[in-house]
Amino acid sequence: MTKLIIAIDGPVGSGKSTIARSVARLLGYSYLDSGAMYRALAWKALRDGVLLDSPASLAVLAENMRIDLTQDGGALRVSVDGADVTEAIRSADVARAASQVAVVPEVRSVLVDQQRRAGQFGGVVMEGRDIGTVVFPDAHLKIFLDASPEVRAERRRREYLAKGQAVQPAAMLEQVRERDLRDRERVASPLARAADAVLVDNTAMDAEE
Ligand code: DC
Repeated sequence: MTKLIIAIDGPVGSGKSTIARSVARLLGYSYLDSGAMYRALAWKALRDGVLLDSPASLAVLAENMRIDLTQDGGALRVSVDGADVTEAIRSADVARAASQVAVVPEVRSVLVDQQRRAGQFGGVVMEGRDIGTVVFPDAHLKIFLDASPEVRAERRRREYLAKGQAVQPAAMLEQVRERDLRDRERVASPLARAADAVLVDNTAMDAEE
């Protein structure tokens, strides 16, 4: 049986991780969170004091670091050069820095190559912003998830709260809008729905639906 490549794209808080993870589990496929790779690079740039507006330095960093995504039961573990950064890459600072490094074409080309290698044999559910448009334009199935900014901000706010970080709803909505803008309007591989992607607006749906 053909092992499919399933691409799931969408903005922050659209439910990509939840859905991609459970579909992968149901099908016995591997799950790849491409956003975790941009976050891992951003984490390293912040730690090493690499300027986020220096494409050349970021490209060198991307080429010389090792990002490992491993599945530990249902959970995804992320490491950079052997150090576990699973929790560290989920902070608000790293999220902001990730959306900045993700605008750099040289960074994208290094990470996209790694994503293609990871998915080349199929049997993978990959989530991100450009999986159906750039990484795997020939994916067997493409899903574009979306929901209203207010609902996405509320989902994010609850995730942070569950980790003990309280963020005001208005501030969360502002962050979501800021990241949407940066993801959608950048020149290099902006977040966009592929023409052949199935659009699922889950504003009024729960994960099970
Ligand atoms: O999905 P996420 O929030 O973990 O992604 C972190 C950042 O990386 C986000 O600003 C968008 C960017 N990203 C991207 O540009 N391309 C991808 N394929 C995945 C994420």
